[in-house]
Amino acid sequence: MSRLRVAIQKSGRLSEKSLDLLKNCGLRFARSKDKLFWYGKDFPVDLLLVRDDDIPRLLLDGVCDLGIVGENIASEVMLERNGGNGLHLLRKLGFGHCRLSIAIPEDLEINDSSSLEGLRIATSYPELTRYLLEQKNVTTEIVELSGSVEIAPGLGTADAISDLVSTGTTLRANHLRELEVIYESQAALYSREGEVEAEKQALLERLLARLEGVIQASESKYVMLHAPRDALDKVTELLPGVEHPSIMPLEGSDRIAIHAVCGEAVFWEHLEALKAVGASAILVLPVEKMLS
Ligand code: PRP
Ligand code: ZN
Repeated sequence: MSRLRVAIQKSGRLSEKSLDLLKNCGLRFARSKDKLFWYGKDFPVDLLLVRDDDIPRLLLDGVCDLGIVGENIASEVMLERNGGNGLHLLRKLGFGHCRLSIAIPEDLEINDSSSLEGLRIATSYPELTRYLLEQKNVTTEIVELSGSVEIAPGLGTADAISDLVSTGTTLRANHLRELEVIYESQAALYSREGEVEAEKQALLERLLARLEGVIQASESKYVMLHAPRDALDKVTELLPGVEHPSIMPLEGSDRIAIHAVCGEAVFWEHLEALKAVGASAILVLPVEKMLS
C-alpha cells in the first residue's frame, strides 16, 4: 500500500497553518517521539517536519512526495538548479503571504531599483534576487548571507538588502526602508515533476480534492437574508461571487428569503449595500466543508 510523505515547516511562519490545513482535510497523525516524523493514522499520508529551506531539496531528492513551502524558497532552488525545472506547483494555499523587497538605509537617497547599479545587496535569496534585478537591467554585487540580512548595511558589508517582508517590523527596527517589492510570495503545495506511480497519483488526487474543498470553504461564506421580491436581481448582483441563489417564500409576506454561498470575502460594504436595496435579517455564516 502506497503512502504519501509531505514535508512541512517544523516551526515558523508557515508551520501552524500548514498543519491546520492538513488536519482540516481529515488527516490525523500519531506523533513519533522525536516529533520529526508523524505517521498518518486513517489516511496514508505521513508528515516530515523540517526547516522550510530544506523542503525543495527533500522533494527533488525523492525523500518526500509533497511539500508546503513559500514560493520564494521554491523559486530560489529552481533557479539554482538552473532553468526552473524540477518542482511542480500544485496549488497556492492562500496563507503565508509575504514579499521579497529591496530595502535600503533610511537615509540613503535612492528612489528606485535602477539606482542600485553596482551596489552590494545582501540576501538569503541570491538566485532570485539576481534574476529579478537582471529582469530590470540592474547589475549588482550579491552578498549571500544565511540569516540576519537586515544588519548587513549597518555593519557596512552591504549597501542594501533583498529580504522577505511581512509586517515590516524587522525593517523598521533596523532603520531600513522598503525601496521596491520585487516578488510576491505565499505558501504553496509542491510536488516533483515527472511520473508518479498510479496508486500514489490516486492518493494525491484524493488529497487535492479535499484540499480544494477546505480552501474554498475557508474563502466562502453562507449568506441568508430577507428582501423584497423585486429586489432579487439587485441582491444577487451585490452578493460576491454568486450566480444562482436559492429563493424561499416567506409565509404571509411579500418578501422572500435568499440563501447563497458567496465564493469571495463578504465585507461590511457588501452588507450595507444589500441593506440599501431593501435587505434585512442578513446573516453571514462560515462554511466548514465544501465538495463540488
Ligand atoms: C523573514 C525575514 C525577516 C522577517 C521579516 O524571516 O528574513 O527577518 O521575516 O518579517 P517582518 O516584516 O514581519 O518583520 P523568516 O521569518 O522567513 O525567517 P527565516 O528566513 O529564518 O525562515
Ligand atoms: Zn527559513
